[in-house]
Amino acid sequence: MTSTSESFQLPTEAAEFYESAFVPAFFAQWAPVLCAAAGVGPGQHVLDVACGTGIVARTAADLVAPDGSVVGVDLNEAMLAVARRVRPDLDWRRGDAADLPLDDDSFDVALSQMALMFVPDRIRALSEMARVTRPGGAVGVLVPGRLDAQPAFAPFVEMAVRHAGPSASSLLTSYFTCGDLEELTELAESVGLAATVSRTEPGTYRAPSVDAFVTTEVESTPLVDRLSEATYRQIRDEAHAVLAPFTAADGSVEAPFEADLLVARRPRG
Ligand SMILES: C[S@@+](CC[C@H](N)C(=O)[O-])C[C@H]1O[C@@H](n2cnc3c(N)ncnc32)[C@H](O)[C@@H]1O
Repeated sequence: MTSTSESFQLPTEAAEFYESAFVPAFFAQWAPVLCAAAGVGPGQHVLDVACGTGIVARTAADLVAPDGSVVGVDLNEAMLAVARRVRPDLDWRRGDAADLPLDDDSFDVALSQMALMFVPDRIRALSEMARVTRPGGAVGVLVPGRLDAQPAFAPFVEMAVRHAGPSASSLLTSYFTCGDLEELTELAESVGLAATVSRTEPGTYRAPSVDAFVTTEVESTPLVDRLSEATYRQIRDEAHAVLAPFTAADGSVEAPFEADLLVARRPRG
């Protein structure tokens, strides 16, 4: 689904594929929800942290027009290159969520979608988002929900770990490690933010086929280098049965996916 903390610099083709395949199939659906929950509107200055190819920044840019502005920050140059190609008019910057290259109090809203789970120091990232948000402004974060709330991913991971061994578990579950709303709320409150929205958000995960689903889940993690050919084949074969309830007649996969959404305000004064 994305790079892991072990390898942030993707080749440009991977970032282009992310934009053409994964953004429409998965990431685009959450951006309007996150922007609406955080109250993004005309004239605001909005930050998109770990922006990837920029779907949240682009969605926000349409909402803040004509007088607002949007900045997108990401660690990955290839993601930023695609973001710049798609929307050259927006401000894209290379930077770490845990050390934002931005001034204090400079945004009305700071957002981050489907990324906080990849940042090793989440408190630092939330505190950086709070720092660059003006007093009274909003910080909005959306992450994948709990693994056991994901009806396709939970049995898929269980099956893959059965074949690949327990060490595969942390690699396949890293996407879901922020999936605890109570903990996320506590983290935000620990950096001085006051939660105003804390809810799960239903969505859909789509893949063109069971094979594509397996390729994405296995090959976007270092697991792919640790699996024997035979084990990978077993996982691929059994995935058809595990994902059968979510597989349509044309072979495409469509499964419910739950995200966690938090919006927290920076207190005034
Ligand atoms: C799954 S993508 C989500 C991208 C985008 N927010 C979206 O919704 O399409 C995760 C992004 O987080 C970025 N990322 C991971 N760790 C980061 C960090 N510490 N600082 C900035 N960006 C980071 C990755 O480069 C990647 O673009």
